[in-house]
Amino acid sequence: MSTPNAFANWLRTLSQVTVFLFRTAKSQYRFAVISTEVRTGQHSYRVLIGPGLLATVGDAIKEKLPPSRCAIISDTNVAPRFAEKIQRSLVSAGFESALITVPAGEQSKTLEQAGAVCEEILGAGLDRQSFVIGLGGGVIGDLSGFVAAIFQRGIPHVQIPTTLLAMVDSSIGGKTGVNMNAGKNLLGAVHQPSLVIDDIEILKTLPRPELSRGFAEIIKHAIIADAEMFSTLQDVDLNNVDFASLVRRNVEIKARIVAKDERDRTGERALLNFGHTVGHGIERAINYQGVSHGEAVSLGMVAACEVSMKKAGLPKKQRDAIVDLLGKFQLPTKLPANFPRQKIFDALKFDKKFEQGQIRFVVTPKIGSARLSRDVTLEDIRAAVEKL
Ligand SMILES: NC(=O)c1ccc[n+]([C@@H]2O[C@H](COP(=O)([O-])OP(=O)(O)OC[C@H]3O[C@@H](n4cnc5c(N)ncnc54)[C@H](O)[C@@H]3O)[C@@H](O)[C@H]2O)c1
Ligand SMILES: [Zn+2]
Repeated sequence: MSTPNAFANWLRTLSQVTVFLFRTAKSQYRFAVISTEVRTGQHSYRVLIGPGLLATVGDAIKEKLPPSRCAIISDTNVAPRFAEKIQRSLVSAGFESALITVPAGEQSKTLEQAGAVCEEILGAGLDRQSFVIGLGGGVIGDLSGFVAAIFQRGIPHVQIPTTLLAMVDSSIGGKTGVNMNAGKNLLGAVHQPSLVIDDIEILKTLPRPELSRGFAEIIKHAIIADAEMFSTLQDVDLNNVDFASLVRRNVEIKARIVAKDERDRTGERALLNFGHTVGHGIERAINYQGVSHGEAVSLGMVAACEVSMKKAGLPKKQRDAIVDLLGKFQLPTKLPANFPRQKIFDALKFDKKFEQGQIRFVVTPKIGSARLSRDVTLEDIRAAVEKL
């Protein structure tokens, strides 16, 4: 904080948190809603977190965007559960909405699907004054954000994440995109949302494994940036999680990192890739079949801990605590004996973090901190994967 500039930067990157009582049509001041501000580059947007927010989506959007037409993009699992409530709230706030539903799952994250959605929203009468709402998990967030980024050269995007992973990770930071045959997320745009609405009650219908996948990224955030949250997670009763404060804490961590490095240029944002080098290798090794991203990242974090013990002085006790915590959230910490390990290494050369033969590998010297290391070799990674 030595120069006025540094101080100004610090102020700019600070996420502002306010908790206020939200006014609803039926009863005044019913829900405690957390509002946290995300600031990146030129943009700043609010993330509202609390129970029962779906019924007030229209009012929340009205504070940010002028009355106009919008499209809700959702998937076949999510739309039947939640879209009607949102549409009612939009109508009462003066917005006209069209609902566009795509098949649930990663296979919908394609350029063809994005093009088809653009055709549909044009057919529904959306124009440059319109906006898009993404209602779903990370797949819908990425697809709808990409559509918002390219339709009429860019219209506002409102994120209503419905998975834990989407709330704590993919809805923050503005990365949007679709997959190509050659790999995931190879086409895309950075398009920050105008507003993010996290209705915590939505998580009640999320299948247990999906919840665990969200916890993989939460544990990652704890390891790289928040030792206190790590202890909280160690003590948490799985049947009694305070999701509102957990989501808020994770939104703040991701927002702080993204604010410093919106376009992934300075290395700060790369810290979010802790566990992802080996994790992506595992996903690729079996062609994304039979292992989810969260499970692969869990295994990748165990490997990253092994490398961190060797190259960054991570104490073994802390490595063991990380493995125990992953296990507590039903995340895998050992690869099956017959897993094609060699394919993990073959996949590493496709990794974006593999630059001119050098790996930019994220290590943790101690829980709550992380740094980028350039002296991790492929041999170190191989040894860690052999041990998995
Ligand atoms: N943009 C980013 O910064 C970023 C970051 C991390 C991940 N991602 C992307 O996110 C995607 C993964 O996201 P995800 O794990 O949320 O997967 P997802 O969107 O496929 O959702 C998982 C499953 O849960 C269902 N579902 C969603 N909400 C539900 C609810 N409330 N109740 C019942 N079922 C529900 C979905 O229909 C789907 O079948 C990947 O494509 C990944 O690349 C993007
Ligand atoms: Zn991830």
